[in-house]
Amino acid sequence: MRPNDYEFIRQIVYSHSRINLGQDKQELVSARLGKRLRATGRATVSEYCDLLRTAAGTEELGNLIDVISTNHTYFFREEGHFEALRDTILPDLVRRRGREAGATLRVWSAACSSGEEPYSIAIALEEYFSAHPPAWPRQIEATDISTRILTKAQAAVYAAETVSRMPPATVKAYFQTGYAEQAGLYRVKPALRSMVRFRQLNLLEGALPFNEPFQIIFCRNVMIYFDRATQEELVQRLKSKLVPGGYLMVGHSESLTGINHGLKIIRPATYQNPLS
Ligand SMILES: C[S@@+](CC[C@H](N)C(=O)[O-])C[C@H]1O[C@@H](n2cnc3c(N)ncnc32)[C@H](O)[C@@H]1O
Repeated sequence: MRPNDYEFIRQIVYSHSRINLGQDKQELVSARLGKRLRATGRATVSEYCDLLRTAAGTEELGNLIDVISTNHTYFFREEGHFEALRDTILPDLVRRRGREAGATLRVWSAACSSGEEPYSIAIALEEYFSAHPPAWPRQIEATDISTRILTKAQAAVYAAETVSRMPPATVKAYFQTGYAEQAGLYRVKPALRSMVRFRQLNLLEGALPFNEPFQIIFCRNVMIYFDRATQEELVQRLKSKLVPGGYLMVGHSESLTGINHGLKIIRPATYQNPLS
């Protein structure tokens, strides 16, 4: 890839998604672009860049972001967050329920990828409230920049090896087992699916489309792709959507050290908005 083509790709990706591709990512980007070159019938990266400069390129931009960003995720990723949810966060929020904690328990999975994160949250809430009644009406909002990955999330169909990380009893309770041509596939049961609302959202573009704040926000393993200034901007945006005393979970490799956030650290990668 010619250096000026890489620079063009870097800039267009940054301006659309704020994903910050370092100089060290050129080989990776080159490998990932191969798929888009084939799909669009372009022979070289330069030709592909020319396509991105045209009106038709606006549509292609979404596909470019799709191949550049990493959608890697899995059920109950970073288990410590789910333990904290069960042992500390939900008991605390339940104690404050109906006062500052709000009538509906609202959780946001920001950058939800193919759905494993919001469905894990839905399962964790189900398990908690069946063990600790009364139930609390709940709503999980799940967003991602990629419409392709959201289609997968909404389909809620996963391969056997994807669900095999969970205990068999959990799989039995929350998944339908595929048969015939669906053999080896598992689909999240409708009751759980109905708790999660998916929508496309660029976390850094425009006003965040939520009128009601959240008690809990998961924004994990996406900040690593952003530069420091963008991370700070994002944390402020997320904070503006947290109730007082609400919780923010970030990926365990995404320290907020050095970021001006005004949140209280509760445990590794878990922050709380101060109670006003
Ligand atoms: C590695 S996945 C993280 C999935 C999940 N949160 C987890 O921790 O397993 C990162 C996701 O961030 C999304 N993403 C990247 N840039 C984004 C942006 N500016 N706004 C919203 N989502 C973005 C990607 O499409 C991808 O699905």
